[in-house]
Amino acid sequence: MTMPLPTEARALYDQTAANWSRRQPSSLSDYTARPQVMALCEPLAGKDVLDLGCGEGYCSRMLSGYGARVLGLDVSERMIALAREAERAEPLGIRYDTADAVAVALDEASFDLVVAVFLFNYLDVAQMQRTMANVHRMLRPGGHFVFAVPHPAFAFMRRDPAPPFHFDIGSAGYFGGRNSRFGGRIWKRDGTALDVQLVHKTLGDYFDGLRLAGFSAMPGVTELTVTREMVALDEAFFGPLFDLPLHLAVKVSRS
Ligand SMILES: C[S@@+](CC[C@H](N)C(=O)[O-])C[C@H]1O[C@@H](n2cnc3c(N)ncnc32)[C@H](O)[C@@H]1O
Repeated sequence: MTMPLPTEARALYDQTAANWSRRQPSSLSDYTARPQVMALCEPLAGKDVLDLGCGEGYCSRMLSGYGARVLGLDVSERMIALAREAERAEPLGIRYDTADAVAVALDEASFDLVVAVFLFNYLDVAQMQRTMANVHRMLRPGGHFVFAVPHPAFAFMRRDPAPPFHFDIGSAGYFGGRNSRFGGRIWKRDGTALDVQLVHKTLGDYFDGLRLAGFSAMPGVTELTVTREMVALDEAFFGPLFDLPLHLAVKVSRS
């Protein structure tokens, strides 16, 4: 199935941008994915970093906090406006611009690290492959690509439309549902919900995408879940997710 250009994601995030604005962890993946992704990105001091699908800048600010020079790109004008507002309020030297990650054409070999945190769930397989090829081209030799995505099993684990997350998968299956765009909701710890989308991919799609993009090194893959510490912090929120595979964090180097 051919997917439209990122109109749907842009419309969703232009409408809901304000719900994403945050300075402290609030959503599930602010605990279960973003800190772990940052750990994979280190060392960051003095590095040129591209944050693709940067949203309102939550990860860009973290990357900058570790000493990186950061460019954040996002398809949603509203998210970029919020990121710039945060930068004006508390200048960190981060540059932000509106761009479609699939088509972005920055200089070859201009970054030490490219990061994409929950971007690929908005792209179909072909769009993800084009983006990965772009990333490979923009990375310097020896540079790294780090990305986080929902675990391929994520959408299929919870059938009830209730917190902490739910996707409307209808009768779709793991293989038959490939490239289908599921609407969903992810709740924050304060009880409010974020509307999200997930273009489903199998585990193999991510590895094929990297190989077709030109990455030849073995990627490091971490399956992320909630920890006992998170359950101790908020049993009602994290407890039902204990021992479930929630996200994948992937790190691969460009030779
Ligand atoms: C779940 S948010 C994650 C934002 C940020 N990376 C974070 O971790 O807080 C996904 C972001 O991807 C952006 N996005 C979706 N499709 C995109 C595309 N084709 N190009 C650039 N950004 C895109 C959305 O606008 C949204 O801001």
